[in-house]
Amino acid sequence: MPLSHSRIRTFEEYQDAYQRSIDNPEQFWADVAEPFTWRRKWNTVLKADMVNGHNEWFGGAKLNITENCLDRHLATRGNKLALIWEPNDPKTRQIRYTYRELHQQVCQFANVLLNNGVEKGDRVCLYMPMIPQLAIAVLACARIGAVHSVIFAGFSSTAIADRVNDAQATVVLTSDGLNRGPKQIPVKRVVDEALEHCPSVRRVIVVEHLGWPVHMQEGRDVWYHQEAEEAAKTCPAEEMDAEDLLFILYTSGSTGKPKGVVHTTAGYMVWADYTFRNVFQVEENDIYWCTADIGWVTGHSYLLYGPLLNGASTLMFEGVPTYPDAGRFWEVIDKHGVTVFYTAPTAIRSLMATPLDNVLSYSLDSLRILGSVGEPINEEAWYWYYTHVGKERCPVIDTWWQTETGGVMISALAGVSPTKPAHAGQPLPGVQPVLLTQEGQEIEGNDQEGYLAIKQPWPGIIRTTYGDHDRAKQTYFGPYPGYYFTGDGARRDENGLYRIIGRVDDVINVSGHRFGTAEIENAINQNANVVESAVVGYPHDVKGQGIYAFVICRAGACDSDADKPHVEASIIETVVAEIGKIAKPDKIQLVSGLPKTRSGKIMRRILRKVAEGETSNIGDVTTLLDPAVVDEIINGRK
Ligand code: WTA
Repeated sequence: MPLSHSRIRTFEEYQDAYQRSIDNPEQFWADVAEPFTWRRKWNTVLKADMVNGHNEWFGGAKLNITENCLDRHLATRGNKLALIWEPNDPKTRQIRYTYRELHQQVCQFANVLLNNGVEKGDRVCLYMPMIPQLAIAVLACARIGAVHSVIFAGFSSTAIADRVNDAQATVVLTSDGLNRGPKQIPVKRVVDEALEHCPSVRRVIVVEHLGWPVHMQEGRDVWYHQEAEEAAKTCPAEEMDAEDLLFILYTSGSTGKPKGVVHTTAGYMVWADYTFRNVFQVEENDIYWCTADIGWVTGHSYLLYGPLLNGASTLMFEGVPTYPDAGRFWEVIDKHGVTVFYTAPTAIRSLMATPLDNVLSYSLDSLRILGSVGEPINEEAWYWYYTHVGKERCPVIDTWWQTETGGVMISALAGVSPTKPAHAGQPLPGVQPVLLTQEGQEIEGNDQEGYLAIKQPWPGIIRTTYGDHDRAKQTYFGPYPGYYFTGDGARRDENGLYRIIGRVDDVINVSGHRFGTAEIENAINQNANVVESAVVGYPHDVKGQGIYAFVICRAGACDSDADKPHVEASIIETVVAEIGKIAKPDKIQLVSGLPKTRSGKIMRRILRKVAEGETSNIGDVTTLLDPAVVDEIINGRK
């Protein structure tokens, strides 16, 4: 299949495609879906229900996504590079797989899963480093119809156990250890701790990466390399229904525990493929690099599925942007001739803070297109990226989307549609964004601000939250019936370009990673010193948002100032154990009370103002049970 199919090349073509996608979505998406490898075509393109959140795409169709990622390309791209792996340490060996080789690797891994009793529909959790076997294992699950659920390998054992139990996974894939910059982390040990609380797991398959000795539990744990010796390199793909589960990915919401966002086979495939092709405008000879970890949705859609569906060459990086030095990203770009580069604002901001020579000493001549994702990109970071990385010749596309949307929703198409710093731009074909008032009225016209919602289903829309459809319904379809509610606030400028302002719910976005404030509070409250806590986000130069925790201690736990550092350190330890280092509070303020209304509700508005340093402008506190607590909090501000 040529890369050019359903490929928009001019702004007029974009306008035309957009209009057709709105006028007749079924015809539009049937045309886009036509060239895939289907075992059987669909009966209906779309069954929509935006009130209950039961949306179905390509109903009745049969397919396997890996036949579309791999087998379909073998005749024309068998010898083309599919996956390029750059290790953590630049002095060690790179790995490169052609489409033919990747196909074999995936088949072999699939056979290992089959030999270990994995069946269609089983949930497999992956807690692995960014090594080729992670990509291969994800595709191997899809090959045999197992549902993959990747857990970012920075989460703690408690967070792993929560996810494994929620998914009722039977098999876990992991490795002996992982490299993260100068550090090495014993991943298998973290999994072992987690699995003490996971009765559903009967098999752990361990990939050897660091060559570390690890404890192997008799009857449960096996080494991948030993299993692979007996596994064939061909494996027929399982025939899947369009709406069979492809994966579960856990993400944070404003309440309770992270929820398992479910994506299914055909719609996700069509959406990942179409959005990748058009947003990044990838050509046959491009070397494309997305720096996201496969543990997040960006890694799923734009490191793995989108590029492979398009027959592109995708680069996977094990390391971090600052190791061995802060020029690493640029070194990798020059080394591999990367043409399209996709990263997060937090990475850009952290590199901006280092000497400019780190980037100026590389040529970066190969670059054509730059992308950003995960959080709002501020103008300063946008200009730095555009000027010093893109040398003012590469369009910067700011892609807005969510785990729940499966792929990019609002973004310029690189070089095709207009870009504006700090603005995501216009919706992709198939996406109908609206701005709502708090009461749910649509706000018409340009130069307006409101709650961002989406009117019609698109192929990549979330299907459910695993094991609890009510939660999906309430979270996304309940707030404004008939719309998918994003949780973000947005502004539509005078030309109709969207700017994402940030979350309007209790979700904070730290370095592009989502956390519910309640989730972090629950973790803090596990600490024996703590009675109650309230967490808010505040602006942070590098992370976008930082985590500010207000904590009430148990009587006697920190009566003297000397106790405070110990208590704070132990609270941090608890959060790291409950969730992981990525959720560590940046600031902890021990307080004697929280600003509560007479009905007992914490007034977060006040805490947010304190955390932001806006203490002269706190607003009305007369409805508080004890207004005096506000002064104490302001005086003790960190
Ligand atoms: C935020 C990541 C501004 C937003 C793909 C959204 C963004 C949440 C952008 C989803 C962007 C993502 N501009 N904000 N370009 N991209 N966000 O599920 O608040 O990890 O709701 O998906 O990140 O985060 P998630």
